[in-house]
Amino acid sequence: MKKIQVLLLIMIIFSAFAGIEKWKGDDPEKAVYIPENIQRTGNADAGFKYLANGDYVKGGLPYDYFLLAVGKSKTNYLKREGLNATITHEYTVVKATNGETLVAPNCMQCHAQVFEGKLVMGMGNTYADFTMGQKLNPQAYNMLESFLKKGSPKKYEACKPFIQVARTIGPYLTTAVRGVNAADRLAGVLAAHRDPVSFKWSDTALLDISTAIIPSDVPAWWLLRKKHAMFYNGFGRGDFGKFLMASNLLTVNDTAESREVDTHFNDVLSYLYSLRPPKYPKPINAALAKEGAIVYTTNCSKCHGKYGSNESYPNLLIPESVIQTDSLLFKNNYQNPQFVNWFNNSWFATSDHPARLVPFNGYIAPPLDGVWATAPYLHNGSVPTMEGVLNSKSRPLYWQRNFDNTDYDYEKLSWQFTTTDTAGDGIYATSLPGYGNYGHYFGDKLTDKQRKAVIEYLKTL
Ligand code: HEC
Ligand code: HEC
Repeated sequence: MKKIQVLLLIMIIFSAFAGIEKWKGDDPEKAVYIPENIQRTGNADAGFKYLANGDYVKGGLPYDYFLLAVGKSKTNYLKREGLNATITHEYTVVKATNGETLVAPNCMQCHAQVFEGKLVMGMGNTYADFTMGQKLNPQAYNMLESFLKKGSPKKYEACKPFIQVARTIGPYLTTAVRGVNAADRLAGVLAAHRDPVSFKWSDTALLDISTAIIPSDVPAWWLLRKKHAMFYNGFGRGDFGKFLMASNLLTVNDTAESREVDTHFNDVLSYLYSLRPPKYPKPINAALAKEGAIVYTTNCSKCHGKYGSNESYPNLLIPESVIQTDSLLFKNNYQNPQFVNWFNNSWFATSDHPARLVPFNGYIAPPLDGVWATAPYLHNGSVPTMEGVLNSKSRPLYWQRNFDNTDYDYEKLSWQFTTTDTAGDGIYATSLPGYGNYGHYFGDKLTDKQRKAVIEYLKTL
């Protein structure tokens, strides 16, 4: 063996161990390869049943009051039985320890969306409205509390933990515009109020919490089967089930409860792995898509992966200097060592099949399976059309989605929207912190024809 071969071999072995690969493209910076984390196996059907009926979030509001407030649901998309058949897919009926019947929020609040009249499990809910946070002020909760205390002390007892938590997190969950999600801040707030080892709740925050709300566009669940790390900045490593159950932190009593809930999340993970994206339902121009496939292979596949008979996904993190998209999300995770430390010293990281956070200054290049249906684009949903993703000059600075018109635009791969000249109520203003629409300039060098072709190709994924 020649010296150069030995050196090469050492480099390869080293890079495999360090999980770092030299960037082979024309970009000057290094992309970082994410090594695989072995996951628990489970049963997908059991996972779905648990997601739709399980009490992984154990706190909520009294069932009868909930029905009085919102009425019986006209739909039963999840085909659930019993009391669950009377409420929408976003909630689950659970029993409190004192026997009272409560309604708890579930994962489908954010991870399912009605699309063309059907509920698509795993599609990020872009209809969620986090602009109401102001209305859920502590006073509103105080009123609810005194009302329940007088009227039905047993019900009050049952939903006290939920009210307590909701009152604390409410102010942190307000977004500037409907459609973006505030859950990224939620994790930090819950951690700040819980002891990492016992999960005991504290009314006062034990860690400093940044007040910046991080708007995000919920990623589709069907992408997870290809990914070696969870979340936009790829910092979720180790056992994915532990992250999947993190919503349980909302109202968890102790780690014995966490252990019980955790025993179901191998099944939930199997269910998520079984999901596939919806197929593009309109005719596709096959010749144009074929041209697009060539453009894609040259310009996009090194980051987003290959499709077709040799399907593969490279699992790369793209550093800030290359991706250049809005940095608020990863900076809030990355530059918040106390949150990372909280997690990495918590029950999640120290119990069986541990999970851990490995922060990164940049974002994962996501798989593009079913991307045609997941407008708006980028991690903060700042770009309404696919043309915009690939031609930065065409991105609107101020735009407004029409939430009344549920028609999807199958050519623009976009929700219906209008543009405006200034910021204002209900307008997505890309000038706000966290809402920036810059970066991902990789499509700018393409011709209009190439862009059209690659968009046609993306419809086939
Ligand atoms: C309040 C909204 C909300 C709820 C409720 C919620 N999630 Fe999420 N979830 C998000 C957001 C937002 C992200 C993206 C966060 C990021 O990547 O920074 C996310 C990310 C994820 C991911 C990572 C996907 C990927 O490709 O990296 C999975 C898997 C997931 N959630 C599963 C669940 C499960 C299971 C539940 C219920 C137990 C749940 N979520 C409850 C909002 C929510
Ligand atoms: C250097 C790596 C890299 C290259 C090259 C690249 N992308 Fe991306 N792409 C990314 C990253 C990273 C993101 C996530 C950025 C974010 O959300 O802030 C992304 C996001 C996207 C999204 C948005 C996904 C969503 O669900 O919102 C689309 C669509 C996309 N890229 C398509 C393309 C196409 C088409 C090409 C080729 C013309 C391309 N990309 C080239 C790294 C790359």
